[in-house]
This record gives sequence, structure tokens and C-alpha cells, in this order.
Amino acid sequence: MSSPAPAPAAAPALPLEFTTPRLVARPTRVADAPEIFAAYAADPLVTRYLSWRHHASPATVAEFLAHGEWAWATGAGHRGYALRLRATGELVGSIGLEIKGPAVMFGYVLGRSYWGNGYMPEALVHLVDWALAQPGVYRAWAFCDADNPGSARVMEKAGMEFEGRLRRWHVCPELGDEPRDCVVYARVR
Ligand SMILES: CC(C)(COP(=O)(O)OP(=O)(O)OC[C@H]1O[C@@H](n2cnc3c(N)ncnc32)[C@H](O)[C@@H]1OP(=O)(O)O)[C@@H](O)C(=O)NCCC(=O)NCCS
Repeated sequence: MSSPAPAPAAAPALPLEFTTPRLVARPTRVADAPEIFAAYAADPLVTRYLSWRHHASPATVAEFLAHGEWAWATGAGHRGYALRLRATGELVGSIGLEIKGPAVMFGYVLGRSYWGNGYMPEALVHLVDWALAQPGVYRAWAFCDADNPGSARVMEKAGMEFEGRLRRWHVCPELGDEPRDCVVYARVR
């Protein structure tokens, strides 16, 4: 008689704080709403290729962050970290992830005035390294709009490789109702 199949590995517990040379990351909280609103959530250029439209007030950001607190409390869904500069404590953006079995998917956003300093690759490479060091995780991946080469470059700089194009994959509400083509990048072990 054959022995039963081994149970799937439990989902890894996420760190409640991590640091990189220039950044410190902690779970987003409702209390971050005013800073997130000021840093990036009100800017339609920032949200152009995201799955949500820019916000008109910190109150709606707070509602969104309440869902995030629920995700952190239950360990399910997309969990986001607020990214701050270690030097000043300034909130500059956020990075989040969702674990589905052996795969961890990432998403990220940075305030416009902080673009071009390599902050997001710095955060992403840290989390990708962390994810692929967890038992049971074999794939770290992300996608972005096919017209968002800056985001594709972030994935490349984090060591992910181009895997292909997902046609008509993702709606960017700032740009319309129709799903748009995306590109997928991943690092595996
Ligand atoms: C995408 C984003 C996170 C990049 O973060 P960042 O910390 O500024 O990233 P970097 O400093 O590494 O700069 C982006 C890289 O993309 C390159 N890049 C930017 N725009 C580009 C373009 N139009 N074409 C080609 N490359 C571009 C830059 O040259 C740089 O690469 P390099 O260092 O090799 O020169 C930031 O621009 C952002 O938050 N944008 C809005 C939200 C968003 O699109 N998030 C991703 C959703 S999938």
C-alpha cells in the first residue's frame, strides 16, 4: 500500500518589517492614508496602469487600507507594505504580494517624485529573494501593462525574466473599460 501524499507546505509567514539599504517597509495601515494620498494615490499619472483609479480624498484611501488590514489579519489576499525612506521616514510608495500555492505575485507603486532612483527594484529584489527562500515557494512573478516599460524594467532589475505576453489580461480603469495586453516576468527556483 502506498503512503499518503505529503501535505502541501503551509504558506510562509510574511515579515512584519524589512529593510533594504535605503528603505524600511511595514504593513500598510489605515493610519497611513493621509501620507499615501499625498505621496501617490491622488496622482492619475501614477495610477495610469494600475487596477484602481486615483483617489479624490484620503477617506477613500483609508477604506482601501482597511481591506488591507483585513488581508494582513487573515493572511489571505494581497498584503501591502508601506515603503519609507530610512533617512527621513518619508512614505514614498508601497509594494505588495499575494501567495497562491507555490507562486508569489507582486505589485508595486511609487510616488512620482521618487521615480528613477532605483527604490522599487531595491524593494522588489529583497522580497523576491525572501520569497524564493521560503519552503514551498518556487515562483516569484509579476505582470505589468505592455505599455509600461518602466515597470517591466523594475522586474528585470529584480532578476525576473520575460515569459510572455498576456493578451487582453488586465483592465486599467484610468485608460478605459477594456482589458489590455500585459507582459509577465518571473524568477523561479
Ligand atoms: C514603475 C515604477 C515602480 C518604477 O520604480 P522606480 O523605483 O522609479 O524604478 P527605477 O528607478 O529602476 O527606474 C525605472 C527603470 O525603468 C526605465 N524606464 C522608465 N521609463 C521607461 C520607458 N518609458 N522605457 C524604457 N525604460 C524606462 C528607467 O530607465 C529605469 O531603468 P534603468 O535604471 O535601467 O535606467 C514607478 O515608475 C511607478 O510607481 N510607476 C507608477 C505605478 C506603476 O506603474 N506601477 C507598476 C504597476 S505593474
